[in-house]
Amino acid sequence: MTTTEPTATPVTMPRIGDPAPAFTATTTQGDISFPGDYEGRWVILFSHPADFTPVCTSEFMTFATMEEQFNAYGVDLVGLSIDGLYSHIAWLRTIKEKISFRDMSDVEVTFPLIEDISMEVATKYGMVMPGESATQAVRAVFVIDPKGIIRTIIYYPLSLGRNFDELLRVVVGLRTADEFGVALPADWRPGERVIVPTAGSCGTAKDRMESDDEDLHCEDWFFCTTSLAEDEITSRLRSS
Ligand code: BEZ
Repeated sequence: MTTTEPTATPVTMPRIGDPAPAFTATTTQGDISFPGDYEGRWVILFSHPADFTPVCTSEFMTFATMEEQFNAYGVDLVGLSIDGLYSHIAWLRTIKEKISFRDMSDVEVTFPLIEDISMEVATKYGMVMPGESATQAVRAVFVIDPKGIIRTIIYYPLSLGRNFDELLRVVVGLRTADEFGVALPADWRPGERVIVPTAGSCGTAKDRMESDDEDLHCEDWFFCTTSLAEDEITSRLRSS
């Protein structure tokens, strides 16, 4: 007699380049329809394991303190955890009223925090990794562009807080790559040299190597850089 093994439910994980999975949810700032409500804006959708936990508290204080910097580059923030709305509200109030961390105090979190007790959204986005925790989301970060396409995904485990300077670098880098048609080398920061596209849009490799553009420097046919000033990036990204 043959027996049929039970089949596990396939785990779905959206990938870079996929449309952001759609959902509606209740948040600390009212109901949202995602990603439709954010059409035309960049969004960082991120999860944290649980309210009233220390690493998450340090992360929320940092994100809230940097929110204006993200907004200045056209980026909105949306958080999520597998907790209910009243837990979220009580935790954010406690953060504001009681918690000081580094040089941050009296921090008000004004970006939406999604309640996801059913784990519907966390499951859709592959934010729950049972090997780490079956009941809490890991620290996932989805950067979604104005057309609702996922452009970057970063995961951190429960015990390690995210690097928020890196998250800002990611959104500025993505937008710089899009706006200026360039690529960005390892550890790039605004103001540093950028990589010009491979042959095709900018002529042949030979053209490139022999170019009299004094600012273009080629290590070899496949690796050419040029300068791009930080204020040029800032003014372009902040006006578009
Ligand atoms: C924290 O945010 O401190 C935390 C949350 C879940 C597991 C471990 C740490």
